[in-house]
Amino acid sequence: MIPDKVPKDDVFYGAAELQKGAHVPTFEKYKDMYMQSIQDPDKFWGDMAKDFFWKSQHTGRFLDYNFDVTKGEIFTKCMAGASTNICYNVLDRNVHDRKLGDKVAFHWEGNEPGDESMVTYRELLHAVCRFANVLKSQGVRKGDRVAIYLPMVVELVVAMLACARLGAVHSIVFAGFSAESLSDRIMDSGCSLLVTADGFYRGDKLINLKILADEALQKCRDKGFPLHRCIVLKHLSKEAHETSLSCPPAKRSCPDLQVPWNPEVDRCWHALVAAASDQCEPEWCESEDPLFILYTSGSTGKPKGVLHTLSGYMLYTAATFKLVFDHRPDDVYWCTADIGWITGHSYVTYGPLANGATSVLFEGLPTYPDVSRMWQMVDKYRVSKFYTAPTAIRLLMKYGNEPVQKYKRDSLKVLGTVGEPINPEAWHWYFSVVGDSRCPIVDTFWQTETGGHVLTPLPAATPMKPGSATFPFFGVVPAILNECGEELEGPSEGYLVFKQPWPGVMRTVYGNHGRFQSTYFKKFPGYYVTGDGCRRDKDGYYWITGRIDDMLNVSGHLLSTAEVESALVEHEAVAEAAVVGRPHPVKGESLYCFVTLGDGRTFNPTLEAQLRKQVREKIGAIATPDYIQDAPGLPKTRSGKIMRRVLRQIARGEKDLGDISTLADSSVVETLFINRCQPAL
Ligand code: WTA
Repeated sequence: MIPDKVPKDDVFYGAAELQKGAHVPTFEKYKDMYMQSIQDPDKFWGDMAKDFFWKSQHTGRFLDYNFDVTKGEIFTKCMAGASTNICYNVLDRNVHDRKLGDKVAFHWEGNEPGDESMVTYRELLHAVCRFANVLKSQGVRKGDRVAIYLPMVVELVVAMLACARLGAVHSIVFAGFSAESLSDRIMDSGCSLLVTADGFYRGDKLINLKILADEALQKCRDKGFPLHRCIVLKHLSKEAHETSLSCPPAKRSCPDLQVPWNPEVDRCWHALVAAASDQCEPEWCESEDPLFILYTSGSTGKPKGVLHTLSGYMLYTAATFKLVFDHRPDDVYWCTADIGWITGHSYVTYGPLANGATSVLFEGLPTYPDVSRMWQMVDKYRVSKFYTAPTAIRLLMKYGNEPVQKYKRDSLKVLGTVGEPINPEAWHWYFSVVGDSRCPIVDTFWQTETGGHVLTPLPAATPMKPGSATFPFFGVVPAILNECGEELEGPSEGYLVFKQPWPGVMRTVYGNHGRFQSTYFKKFPGYYVTGDGCRRDKDGYYWITGRIDDMLNVSGHLLSTAEVESALVEHEAVAEAAVVGRPHPVKGESLYCFVTLGDGRTFNPTLEAQLRKQVREKIGAIATPDYIQDAPGLPKTRSGKIMRRVLRQIARGEKDLGDISTLADSSVVETLFINRCQPAL
């Protein structure tokens, strides 16, 4: 399955000195370890587990599972019966056993250059204990769900780890999501408390987060789901807060900040924390107790609450972080993802902290105040491992080499990407300009559902091919299936599936195990189905070809077309909507929406603006349509099914539409073609 030999030509390597002292220094070593991880997963992961603290040992098999719907319920269990606490493992163990109390856990850098702070492992532990005591005093108990809606501040890490310390389940909602998205998620996971902030800046733009949070809580109340408590972090408010970990308030003046206050429900983070003790015993939890819920788009429209459990996720994020970034004690690591996404959960918080790493936590944007910000920060913190998304690379690439080359970047050792396939042009620019042809690029393929990397190069071991996520991580067994569910051997293309679990795979869709089974396991019994297409080349390298369901990947974020369509048809003027992707030079894909209006309605710029606003308010800014086209009719088959393939081709301006003989009325297509939206330049 892993090739005996990898090609010597047409592949790229990082600097040879990276192999010295590397955890996995050669491809041979990778192959050996991979074979061990597949042949005896219990031993492989059991050895990894020795690094962690276990209050009591597991009782059953190390890794137990059923991936075959025809044989009963789907399940994965890792280290069942063991008891531990992930917060204890990522903080107390580092402070007390590994003597890393004075090591910096995070260098926090705010949106505004000059706003900065740092927090050591010991300080983080104390802050987490205090906030855990606060949550306890507000009635939060093991198993309760807590919604967190915060910007990229250290307190976001504090809030999530405080939940984990108590065995409460965090459900983090990206602060770019709308009030409606937040309320849907709060209700779906039955949260009992919300943690939010007054507001934050994204570049020049002020986001009044508390107003959005209040709107969300009102929507919950209207639907008979009142939340009794909301803890509000004062991130921008004028009152100085000695206890802030991420904000030197003196530098701020935010005349437009509005912080409505409901004394019945709202409590000030700082007042509560000031009165709380910095000692808090961790709650010992069982391996398969839930750790968090994180929502991801579902192809039917309703987001799915992906549930991850404690021990398997802890082992897997720790192992992938250590080996994929070849972590060394003196590294400074920077992952630019927001913690509101899985990348932030696994590779800003849990993976790095489990390894006692020093990370940069950045609140701002790569283009603010200018397009050099990232590289200026790389030099400032002497970042050695840098992890970002192809969309950010493409965006910065547009501005040429000068903004990069004016900084030294000589501290960089490994570069990483995640979120979507990286096009070779962006790969080469990242490799040669950003990394000076010295730093390997780990193109990590994974999903919210997989918990951590599943296909990825290892920086010192794997010869790279630009655009390929290369080979499986330890314990992961990929296969490529054809439409009939047959495994394809050798060079081939088809559905990417996995044949057995690894510790970090999701356990269920929160509150809907049936949906979990039907989404991931029904199509091909015996396999976890990723929803991605994949090609394997003659050398055995895996190449992700993109989603094969009705999902779009906009700037590395998955969106379901159904979700955007339902936001559009909620507008009274819209009778029907169909959304497809159109390639975009920076975002990867953009949203192209066809709308059929109701009788007597006319399409005009005002309506178009209303529709854009509607989608933004229902879902969030990331789902804002790029193109909206008036579609008097949609191409449908005789049985009434919309032919999305045809719409995609119209959106792309492809004249040759192939076989459209199944269309009920082919004249519809001509009209749509003539009125196509032109790309905005
Ligand atoms: C896509 C993000 C190609 C893929 C961690 C997957 C990628 C979806 C890559 C998951 C990559 C992620 N190469 N495609 N390196 N990484 N994807 O759940 O379509 O937000 O299924 O998790 O992103 O997105 P999610």
